[in-house]
Amino acid sequence: MAKNKTAYVCNECGQDFPRWQGQCSACQEWNTITEVRLGAASPGRSTKFVGYAGASSNEVKTLDQIDLNAMPRILSHFGELDRVLGGGIVPGSAILIGGHPGAGKSTLLLQTLCHLAEQMPALYVTGEESLQQVAMRAHRLGLPTNKLRMLSETSVEQICEVALKELPKVIVVDSIQVMHMSDVASSPGSVSQVRESASYLTRFAKENGIAVIMVGHVTKDGSLAGPKVLEHCIDCSVMFEGDSDSRYRTLRSHKNRFGAINELGVFAMTERGLKEVANPSAIFLSRGEEESSGSLVMVVWEGTRPLLVELQVLVDNSAMSNPRRVAVGMDANRLAMLLAVMHRHGGLQMSDQDVFVNVVGGVKVTETSADLTLLLAMVSSFRGDILPSDLVAFGEVGLSGEIRPVPNGQERLIEAAKHGFKRAIVPKANVPKKPPAGMEVVGVSKLSEALEAI
Ligand code: TYD
Ligand code: MG
Repeated sequence: MAKNKTAYVCNECGQDFPRWQGQCSACQEWNTITEVRLGAASPGRSTKFVGYAGASSNEVKTLDQIDLNAMPRILSHFGELDRVLGGGIVPGSAILIGGHPGAGKSTLLLQTLCHLAEQMPALYVTGEESLQQVAMRAHRLGLPTNKLRMLSETSVEQICEVALKELPKVIVVDSIQVMHMSDVASSPGSVSQVRESASYLTRFAKENGIAVIMVGHVTKDGSLAGPKVLEHCIDCSVMFEGDSDSRYRTLRSHKNRFGAINELGVFAMTERGLKEVANPSAIFLSRGEEESSGSLVMVVWEGTRPLLVELQVLVDNSAMSNPRRVAVGMDANRLAMLLAVMHRHGGLQMSDQDVFVNVVGGVKVTETSADLTLLLAMVSSFRGDILPSDLVAFGEVGLSGEIRPVPNGQERLIEAAKHGFKRAIVPKANVPKKPPAGMEVVGVSKLSEALEAI
């Protein structure tokens, strides 16, 4: 009989502990550690299909002896998906696509696989929807349906067995939270099941040269194991994000062993499924004719592309002793820091004001180039001054009030000029020798100069 081992695993970061404790000492989260029973047999079990030539062997080689051409990347139907994955799907890799329920993960993968199946064997395993439901969706979306092999199954061992008979090049497992392994003694969706299923599938992918794409749901409460637990074992982790009330969905990689991270792919959800947006730089721009205070456009750099995004700030007298600082789509710490810089170096006191910041279109901005835009929009709202609608700004703001340059300044300006912006306030070091045609570029190196420029 297999000996059962007990471990205590953190739901957030997947760290193991020998005994239960209230706080995870790895990620500092409270009440995330649960007891799991691990089957003793699972870690050592072989998943290998003997006929596969690329499987690991004991032979020692130098790097240049390893044949790379044997495994060209698989190009999917979607160029945006390929760019996020670093140029296509790597054979034998384990990819996780995470996102909130209803984001469109199943739709994206069904569309991708239906088209891929035209060129190579592919298998779509659904554990959540019935085969009829998936077929209905495929017909409604007008996808080619005669090649893709479908399987409705939740047992990981069964899936791998079928896969070894079918020998697909790509498998989709929708979703990892409903998968289970017979020798793990807990219910599907628990940390131990998700972790063991994912690591088994990852090993299966590596040993057989089959790319496995797993779907992972993200939930607000910690009852389901989120993709954090999985990130250790898989090769690529991409997130499919977007408000369900917005048309646009973004695909962003958080971990990628085969390419750059933070590459952004943009899709639009239509009644005919997902369509890619190949040139997304201005889709989040929604400025009306009416000019208003507190609104300014920034140019952020996403992976290898510029993106024009509108930022709105509302500064208003606070009725509370503790004024509110709310940032949607931006880091609240950054906002607090900029308020301090503004007080100290710009002479503007906002300690009795509520400050609300919103990035239009549900985009999340993590880049420091948004600092200057946020600051100028804040000043505009505070003073009630209207900023011209053909103005863009970007630049990093330092703690001593200096405006620091950001990468790819020239490309950002060119993109803004392309969309009809006529004026730009940028860090002095980012001012190009020859500004884009029809654009006036103002370089600033200190906060006071920036405030003067508006
Ligand atoms: P789905 O792929 O089922 O989401 P997930 O697998 O991430 O949970 O997508 C469901 C949402 O997508 C649903 O709210 C409706 C929307 N949708 C469309 O708007 N158009 C379509 O053609 C399809 C298939 C879905
Ligand atoms: Mg789904």
